[in-house]
Amino acid sequence: MTTALITGATAGIGAAFARRLAADGHNLVLVARDTHRLREQATELHDRHGIEAEVLTADLSLDEGIAAVEARLADRRQAVDLLVNNAGFGNKGQFLDVSMADELTMLKVHCEAVLRLTSAAAAGMRERGRGGVVNVASVAAFVPRGTYGASKAWVVQFTQGVAKDLAGSGVRMMALCPGFVRTEFHQRAGMGTGSIPGWMWLDADKLVAAALADLARGKQVSVPDARYKALMGLVKVTPRGLLGGVTSKTGRKYGPR
Ligand SMILES: NC(=O)c1ccc[n+]([C@@H]2O[C@H](COP(=O)([O-])OP(=O)(O)OC[C@H]3O[C@@H](n4cnc5c(N)ncnc54)[C@H](OP(=O)(O)O)[C@@H]3O)[C@@H](O)[C@H]2O)c1
Repeated sequence: MTTALITGATAGIGAAFARRLAADGHNLVLVARDTHRLREQATELHDRHGIEAEVLTADLSLDEGIAAVEARLADRRQAVDLLVNNAGFGNKGQFLDVSMADELTMLKVHCEAVLRLTSAAAAGMRERGRGGVVNVASVAAFVPRGTYGASKAWVVQFTQGVAKDLAGSGVRMMALCPGFVRTEFHQRAGMGTGSIPGWMWLDADKLVAAALADLARGKQVSVPDARYKALMGLVKVTPRGLLGGVTSKTGRKYGPR
């Protein structure tokens, strides 16, 4: 039986990963800040699927939280075969509207935690000659979209770079780039979602199924769903200045991200 560790496991995309991996028979290590919610989720997944679900309470915006998850990933007696770096959030507002403390917290969770946890997991995976890391980025990585998009662009670049360095080691690296997904993300950030057309919303369970299929195929960058594949094709041929006008403001002050 293999074990997967998921950060941000209690809601949205992370919870969809937990449901799907548990249904497929993987043991889980569930990471987030809310211990009560983690315990409820672990009990439900254990009862429903007969898997072992471990709870690890950690705040990935703090050094001690990252260190606790690093220690679990580096424990050779309880190997983790799949790491899903999914925890993340949005700050409401454009550059200079958001406090520097909030900007730095985002970089800590989206970049530093992803760097350190990937490193802690990949060392053991390389020794064992197998394993996988999914880093949840966003299609915002490919368009000018404030500091959120910049942090997710880092995730994509980082993942592709590490994939190259680990080529042939048996360790798979994949950046997952979702479009809009119905989760708690926008509500938590205090962002309205009214201006986003219905067709742009993705379902978290379908997104995860597509992501795991892409990981099995050995993809390094996964953009699930034909709608977003087509949009990203358009992005590639659209002048950057024009793109910035459309994407950098949409939803960031008053709407979704
Ligand atoms: N929803 C979208 O439209 C969308 C689109 C593209 C990419 N994404 C990305 O997908 C990922 C998941 O987002 P989501 O939409 O599923 O959001 P969500 O529903 O708000 O869930 C976020 C999860 O992350 C955890 N979390 C947040 N801050 C944390 C911290 N400091 N330390 C540890 N855990 C933390 C939360 O649990 P606790 O509060 O208990 O810690 C929760 O389990 C994020 O990286 C996001 O940027 C989302």
